[in-house]
Amino acid sequence: MDLHQRVLVVPFPAQGHVMPLIKLAYNLAYNGINVTFANSEFAEAKILAAMSDADKKQCPIRLVTYSDGMESQPDDQRYGQGLMDSITKVMPGNIEKLIKQINCSDNREPITCVIADLTVYGTLEVASRMGLKQVAVWPAGPASLALSLHIPQLIKIGVIDGNGSPTKNEVIRLSDEVPVLNSSELLWINPTTQKAFFNFSLTIKQAAEKVSVVLCNTFDELDSSSCAMIPNILPIGPLPLVKKLNPSIGTFSSQDSTCLKWLDKQPSNSVIYIAFGSTAVFSQKQFNELALGLELSGHSFLWVVRSNIVNGSSLEYPDGFLERTANRGKIVEWAPQEKVLAHTSISCFTSHCGWNSTMEGLSYGVPFLCWPYFWDQFHNKSYICDMWKVGLSLKADEDGIISRHEIKTKIDGLLNDDGIRTSALKLMEDAKKSVNEGGSSYENFKSLIKYLKA
Ligand code: UDX
Repeated sequence: MDLHQRVLVVPFPAQGHVMPLIKLAYNLAYNGINVTFANSEFAEAKILAAMSDADKKQCPIRLVTYSDGMESQPDDQRYGQGLMDSITKVMPGNIEKLIKQINCSDNREPITCVIADLTVYGTLEVASRMGLKQVAVWPAGPASLALSLHIPQLIKIGVIDGNGSPTKNEVIRLSDEVPVLNSSELLWINPTTQKAFFNFSLTIKQAAEKVSVVLCNTFDELDSSSCAMIPNILPIGPLPLVKKLNPSIGTFSSQDSTCLKWLDKQPSNSVIYIAFGSTAVFSQKQFNELALGLELSGHSFLWVVRSNIVNGSSLEYPDGFLERTANRGKIVEWAPQEKVLAHTSISCFTSHCGWNSTMEGLSYGVPFLCWPYFWDQFHNKSYICDMWKVGLSLKADEDGIISRHEIKTKIDGLLNDDGIRTSALKLMEDAKKSVNEGGSSYENFKSLIKYLKA
């Protein structure tokens, strides 16, 4: 790319998507690419509110906004069907307008390439119609994209029907080298939104097949079998590739750094970190069991409790829990997660297995206690436990509750498992190698820069 060209980066307007794409955007900018980053008005307001003045001053990319048509929705009602409709019906037109506006009225370089999250495929279609270069980004692991690409074969061999419902209670294996998937844990299986999620997966499949490059926050050595099933994939993770990049960039809420000082006072390898990303919610009953499980474990803990983590009501802790655990528990609304995971006092990560959390935990060699919630998270859990062997999975009882005793037992099992710790440290080294000079992701990123500059 000569200096007269510019890349527009467009994420899906939610926390777990904006954060990795903004890291990618910074990396591109540090490598000489002119980058404009398009946020929904909602996402932009959140990011700017959480960004320090110093970070704003040093921001190497240009931030612009578009309307996703959801501005009047309260925060907790943004992520349902309304947003899905909006990203197909409202967003593409508004992105097209934005590109035209930038290209006609700005004194800057024109947009000549769009890098967009595959989940906002309408943006890639806009770029194609306008004759711009297109690069897609898959915001989850390669295995979940490989699964979507295999939907026609799964229907053909009768494993699922035309609506994505499993026809038999059997496991699915895409290749001999990848973990089996329980048919009840497919990406789109969900009692209320299955039809919409299945159609979404099919559309993503078609969109992935139309572009020449799909970037993914992974590295070749982590899951070469799934990568091999996606002809146009370019693994460039774990993000951020650039060491000087502040890992908090792109967060929607201010990160409470008091927990870092608290961690400094804890012995090495002694604190359980518990965080469930930006959207997972619990029943009050399940929330109580988790609290009581942490208490029963006897370990110190750092727990991220978002104000909206309990479904449909304001959250309450079990009677006396806060007092009884005050000397060994720290609770925050939102943590500087990467800095926490990098801290030597952390012993394990109780996680919903969102892809970003998975890559972050792997990058710092932290063993996982897996508590998947929806979409790709069951798939990620299978990789963590069965393929990479860096974690254990929590099992629900017959009422669908993960009990305090299960939590205590699995914490004990995990912390006493030297094999898991050794595997986690080995993966951390592999991850580092991949982004260091000469590593697979480093080379892939270099080829991306070359492609964008061509
Ligand atoms: C969503 C989906 O739920 C997930 O399944 C998919 O793989 C990616 O998009 P989310 O649920 O938010 O993401 O989880 P995750 O992918 O783990 O991303 C959360 C991000 O928020 C991480 O980058 C994490 O570092 C950050 N975070 C989380 C904080 O900065 N502070 C916290 O306290 C918790």
